[in-house]
Amino acid sequence: MTFRLIAVLLFGVAVAGCATAPPAGPVPPREPVPEPMPEPGPVAPETETKVTPDDDFTVDPGLIPVLADLGITKQMLIDKRLRPVAEATELVVVQTDPDGRRHELTPVAADAYRAMHAAAADDGIVIGIVSAFRSVARQVQLVRRKLDSGETIEQVLALSAPPGFSEHHSGRVVDLMTPGSAVLEADFADTAAYRWLEANAKRFGFVLSYPENNPEGYLFEPWHWRYDGTAR
Ligand code: DAL
Ligand code: ZN
Repeated sequence: MTFRLIAVLLFGVAVAGCATAPPAGPVPPREPVPEPMPEPGPVAPETETKVTPDDDFTVDPGLIPVLADLGITKQMLIDKRLRPVAEATELVVVQTDPDGRRHELTPVAADAYRAMHAAAADDGIVIGIVSAFRSVARQVQLVRRKLDSGETIEQVLALSAPPGFSEHHSGRVVDLMTPGSAVLEADFADTAAYRWLEANAKRFGFVLSYPENNPEGYLFEPWHWRYDGTAR
């Protein structure tokens, strides 16, 4: 599969440090020193250059200034091994809160969630959604709010995905809560609901995205479950 590398206009990144092990054989010549990055301006034409697997992704040109404005560099995306996540195009409401807030998922993920929710209830377990689909624009707001409260971008990215890179954009993810446990806190892992999810979520196609020591470098998120499309 050929991937395209969008110009890294505002990221100004040298990717040499991310290369995978070179093939056996004669030692290749040193990588040439990268040219200085151009000043921000019109988006450069896409290239067909195949680079290394670690930086082998395309950033939506419209997102580049948004990420730069939040202080998110391409190197941060590479270090977190993130890939862009497209916004879901078809969504259905799967939960409406007492205050009217509506949580949406793709139709298939919504069906799977409803089945899981009902099975949990049958076993005396109450789960509810804190957050499901999030647009890129919403993710920008969340990150911006944390920055404005004084967090560094590194602190923000320990728990929040860069806009354009959140699994929540897919409409296949739920952040779950259960009564009696603070929302979006690690203590959720100590609840009967979490133990039930550990034992049963996979039957409905849901997997825990961010266990301890996850490759993306996020903190343990016991509440964040992704429908991966393969109930078993
Ligand atoms: N909390 C996860 C990483 C997200 O923001 O998508
Ligand atoms: Zn989440």
